[in-house]
Amino acid sequence: MDSRLRYFKPHSARIEKSIADEILYSLDCKQKFINSKFFYDSKGSALFEKICKLPEYYPTRTELSLLESLQDDLQKYVKTGCRLVELGSGASVKTQLLLDVLARYDGPLEYFPIDISDILVESSEQLLATYKKLHVTGIIDTYEGGLEFLKRFDQKKNLVIFLGSSYGNFTPKDGRDFLKTIHNTIKPGDLFLIGLDLTKDNHTLESAYNDSQGVTAEFNLNILSRINNELDADFDVTNFEHVAVYDTKQQRIEMHVKSLVDQTVIISKSGKTIYLKKNETIRTEYSYKFSLDQIQKLLKDAGFIILQTWQDEKNYYSLTLASRV
Ligand code: AVJ
Repeated sequence: MDSRLRYFKPHSARIEKSIADEILYSLDCKQKFINSKFFYDSKGSALFEKICKLPEYYPTRTELSLLESLQDDLQKYVKTGCRLVELGSGASVKTQLLLDVLARYDGPLEYFPIDISDILVESSEQLLATYKKLHVTGIIDTYEGGLEFLKRFDQKKNLVIFLGSSYGNFTPKDGRDFLKTIHNTIKPGDLFLIGLDLTKDNHTLESAYNDSQGVTAEFNLNILSRINNELDADFDVTNFEHVAVYDTKQQRIEMHVKSLVDQTVIISKSGKTIYLKKNETIRTEYSYKFSLDQIQKLLKDAGFIILQTWQDEKNYYSLTLASRV
């Protein structure tokens, strides 16, 4: 089995640097913030898995059922010998639904997950057991680093997937730049499939980020525990409250942790003290929502040709398949 798994760490030194620098900077801004990528330590990743199963959190299950229903459509665009490249290591049911389409052809079956964490090594074992002809090449790097690596790697056809509305975490500018990077990475004939959450009524959106079991609250507050662990800080999590609101104009859910008291927090690793006033917040996530027109425009502006889009019957979520000339 091991001979079917290899992984590369193209820029490991560069990644491991400055979590501390990044967080110190963002906690020093007028509106304090912590980049949402820091949610995903092992506890945070487990809590996110739990979120995906919540009755209020519709994106995961909606995307999953869309993926099931688009398999036959997708096959029309996929040619033999096409490999699956995933931004973020799903190695989940979603990944399998796409591998199932590629596996309909004879010949090699290849999966290249790109993820900053080496979790992909572990999660690939399951896939290798399920698909006897599968070869996995894990790329442990940032998305940009991984795409750069892919670009130089070979001339095989790629189906690049970016699921779960992870794109929604980017600011509009960073998002546009990222789409251009993907466009510049793929070759004519390659495919790009992106899953995006759609705009909808405030109640549905806010419920998805304020679930009745409090799992999202736990997930949000866990980011402070993570900083305690990694930077030797002393955030008292009980002095904070989870906040998630939908900004209709900006078309985004904003998550914050709100300070319940005036307080100071010491970050020992860097000898810094942070002051928070009662009701002051630290922003932890943007989760942008899109209209179908905006999705078309975003992709076209980045140079893509749109091949097909799929939505569920409630118009909650969409998948878009694109290519380039
Ligand atoms: C994985 C980033 C798409 O924005 O909906 C879930 C993360 N945050 N609940 C999202 C998340 C709060 C999720 N993404």
